[in-house]
Amino acid sequence: MQEQLIIFDTTLRDGEQSPGASMTKEEKVRIAWQLERMGVDVIEAGFPAASNGDFEAVRAVAESVKESVVCGLARAIESDIRRAGEALKNTGPARIHTFIATSPIHMKNKLRMSPQQVIDQAVKAINWASQYTDDIEFSPEDAGRSEIDFLCKILEKVIDAGAKTLNIPDTVGYTMPEQFGKLIHTLRERIPNSDKAVFSVHCHNDLGLAVANSLSAVINGARQIECTINGLGERAGNASLEEVVMAVRTRQDYFTCDTKIDTKHIVPASKLVSGITGFPVQPNKAIVGANAFAHESGIHQDGVLKHRETYEIMRAEDVGWGANKLLLGKHSGRNAFRSRLKELGIELESEEMLNNTFMRFKELADKKHEIFDEDLHALVSDEVLILQERYRLLSLTIHCETGEIPYARLVISDDGNEMQAESDGSGPVDATFRAIEKLLTSGTQLQLFSVNNITSGTDAQGEVTVRLQKSDRIVNGHGADTDIVVASAKAYLSALNKLHTKLERAHPQV
Ligand code: KIV
Ligand code: ZN
Repeated sequence: MQEQLIIFDTTLRDGEQSPGASMTKEEKVRIAWQLERMGVDVIEAGFPAASNGDFEAVRAVAESVKESVVCGLARAIESDIRRAGEALKNTGPARIHTFIATSPIHMKNKLRMSPQQVIDQAVKAINWASQYTDDIEFSPEDAGRSEIDFLCKILEKVIDAGAKTLNIPDTVGYTMPEQFGKLIHTLRERIPNSDKAVFSVHCHNDLGLAVANSLSAVINGARQIECTINGLGERAGNASLEEVVMAVRTRQDYFTCDTKIDTKHIVPASKLVSGITGFPVQPNKAIVGANAFAHESGIHQDGVLKHRETYEIMRAEDVGWGANKLLLGKHSGRNAFRSRLKELGIELESEEMLNNTFMRFKELADKKHEIFDEDLHALVSDEVLILQERYRLLSLTIHCETGEIPYARLVISDDGNEMQAESDGSGPVDATFRAIEKLLTSGTQLQLFSVNNITSGTDAQGEVTVRLQKSDRIVNGHGADTDIVVASAKAYLSALNKLHTKLERAHPQV
């Protein structure tokens, strides 16, 4: 009988700390639904003390998710913990995750606290959290660079105070797999009350070792892994959920535990997160990259055709490749459309939104024969943006001809006022962006422009991400359309709309 390995997904919290990956409340709820459908045990939905928006998003996720435990992050300070407690109050199963740094470098330079003060603060934090829930997780931040004696001491105290999960973070991605595994082993052995808590790990990928470190910890008794879809997260990201889950599932001969993840939902989750955040998945990314199951060399193809296991250790369909096959087409009615959205966890706020999205679905179905789940997500994202945003694209005319200078003319609405501009450029997208800038003179710098096809085929919608920077703010805008120049214009305007929204949001670790 295999033990259970708890999957704690932090895409909505640590994942959101990637520059430009911030998500709206509605986007978080959609991702949370997908995580719940996949069987994720704990969903860390955000950091409620960061801003009112984060508070509302955590609350909305906690109200809409029923099966998974929903978790809110809080520094080990009273106001943060109360905010997390309030966000999760009277919802489903809830966890408060509180943390304080324990490495000499963090205690001395960041916290300016003595080790004893850090212990006292951690114990107080557990006591505040226990006024809201019994399900309390504690993390000694930067554990990978903390002193083992001090770690043992503080962890023993927080278990006594009521922490049920001890999460050991390799905050800066510094440790080596063997070393990290040993750390978990030593902690479990030396802390007298260690059997009263579940050991968890949270590894960052600065040296590309987050998954290896997490798995090494599992071999040494960790029974919760914190991870994110597509490995999203602060800097180089966190351990990727899909890699951790599939490593353990594929090597059941090696591990003595397994997760309860329904792996067929992995690829749809990856696409959803990539679409919402605008962080494309590299083609050679394990499990969810477009080439992860593609055999290019003749010898490999021949081998796979003769006997699949010659070159394949997993089956593409088991992780959800091909799971989104044609579901709706241009003859589908409003009810089929509505119920598919419901199955995808999408609830539009009003009938008007549903009608508008359905109209745009019909337009898309005229251009594109097969509509996939990813197309529906893109349509809904667009609809939500259209209703909330200041700048909207009304029309775009492009002229491109071999030997001629490309030219764009566009009409946009600025809070309902129509404005138009034209420009030439080195290509149609360049001309379009120049025309927008003529109108809005945003003072931003373009940091990233990327185009991905949402589904396959030349009739697929192109999904464009535009990353803009203005002073110290970085935002990602997205747009989708079967015409990639139109998608680019929408993405550029969406980024400007985000810049326009004032964002005052604290970072948990600063
Ligand atoms: O990386 C880290 O240490 C964290 C903690 C808040 C767990 O994200
Ligand atoms: Zn982290």
